[in-house]
Amino acid sequence: MQARGPLMIEHRLIERMLSVVKDVLAKIESIRKVDPVFVDIVVDFIRVYADRTHHGKEEDILFRELNNKPLSTEDRQIMKALIEEHVFGRQTTKALVEANTRYRNGDETTLTDITANLKTLTEFYPRHIEKEDKVFFPSSRTYFTDEEDQAILAEFWEFDRNMIHEKYKSLVKGFEGRQ
Ligand SMILES: [Fe+2]
Ligand SMILES: [Fe+2]
Repeated sequence: MQARGPLMIEHRLIERMLSVVKDVLAKIESIRKVDPVFVDIVVDFIRVYADRTHHGKEEDILFRELNNKPLSTEDRQIMKALIEEHVFGRQTTKALVEANTRYRNGDETTLTDITANLKTLTEFYPRHIEKEDKVFFPSSRTYFTDEEDQAILAEFWEFDRNMIHEKYKSLVKGFEGRQ
């Protein structure tokens, strides 16, 4: 498998989650109500899977290695845009969490903020994913030898291996901080 393999497999799961969100969005808009726990689960998926596990491999490993390569101006610009889009995803998720907290505390007017942020995520992520799958990953592969690509893949697996531990360590730390 090439290094981009796991990233593309993760893209498919992110797309499936986004299509679940789209279906739920339609229901939310018709009944004018949202289950805050559903929003919590979407946020957990985006933060832990899409952002930390997936963007983590892109930014901390793939983009780091690409930074040592003589990238074309175009590829460098795309990489910069992708990083900015990751930041945008984090900001949108943060706004979603804030709206969900207000909703949970009884402010029903924040329903429109919740739906707007969910909609933003379902609209912007597929375009981001397509840019990576069809443009950036194929062109970034040309900067690496087969050995370098396999070394990136090995580092991806190691990164993934640590994720479950990181997730639950931070959960325990969060509880300890509250005491
Ligand atoms: Fe990305
Ligand atoms: Fe990606």
